[in-house]
Amino acid sequence: MNFGSPRLHYRRCDSTNNRARELAADGFPAGTVVTADEQTAGKGRQGRSWTARWGKALLYSAILRPLAERHVVLPLAVPLAVAEAVEGLAPVECKVKWPNDLWIEGRKCAGVLIEGRPEDGWAVIGVGLNVAIEPEEFPEELRDSATSIGHDVEIEAALGVLNARLGEWVEAEPNDVIDAFGERDVLRGKRIKWGDGEGVAAGVDKAGNLLVETDSGETVSLGAGEVHLSASGGS
Ligand code: BTN
Repeated sequence: MNFGSPRLHYRRCDSTNNRARELAADGFPAGTVVTADEQTAGKGRQGRSWTARWGKALLYSAILRPLAERHVVLPLAVPLAVAEAVEGLAPVECKVKWPNDLWIEGRKCAGVLIEGRPEDGWAVIGVGLNVAIEPEEFPEELRDSATSIGHDVEIEAALGVLNARLGEWVEAEPNDVIDAFGERDVLRGKRIKWGDGEGVAAGVDKAGNLLVETDSGETVSLGAGEVHLSASGGS
């Protein structure tokens, strides 16, 4: 499908996801994209906030509708689209960290927040992609863990490539999504901790859950909403 038309751009808004959700509820079509130079209340996963310097990140929300059965793997498909977009824009390698962070050389360059109203048949795909934020421009607490694409990439170029890659990945078959996710998965084979559990990450299942082999040989599956991971060997 095609993303990017219509496109609404704000110099400043609270959250592009909030704007896109309102548009979806008002009946805007599939493929509608909202962008902003700056957000005053950007949202991250699990109630966290998302900040980015004015004009230096792609702040992007797209409406997907109607939802189909294959979209059960949407939380895996969207990071794949972002990873391919990043690699299409600059000579970098972009990995995925379950559930939906994007990494360049061990640092986070993008995050994904999908908000849905399954009962209404739509979802909003939110992507925050650091394009040209300099290391010293990140808040101090993120300086060691965040990065940007760099390489003089322009935000409008990033928008075009993301629209195209997303258009392909939202159509993909779940098995292809899971295989491709496995090829970019930075957690696979790494020891991770969550709540009171510990084990070695062993890929994702068909529902997009993280599979973990515990020391007792049991395989457990973790849902993205349920766990806070602290990964040894990369987090
Ligand atoms: C995360 O890594 O926690 C997800 C971050 C998602 C941020 C993007 S920025 C554009 C869109 N609007 C929001 O309020 N959030 C998403």
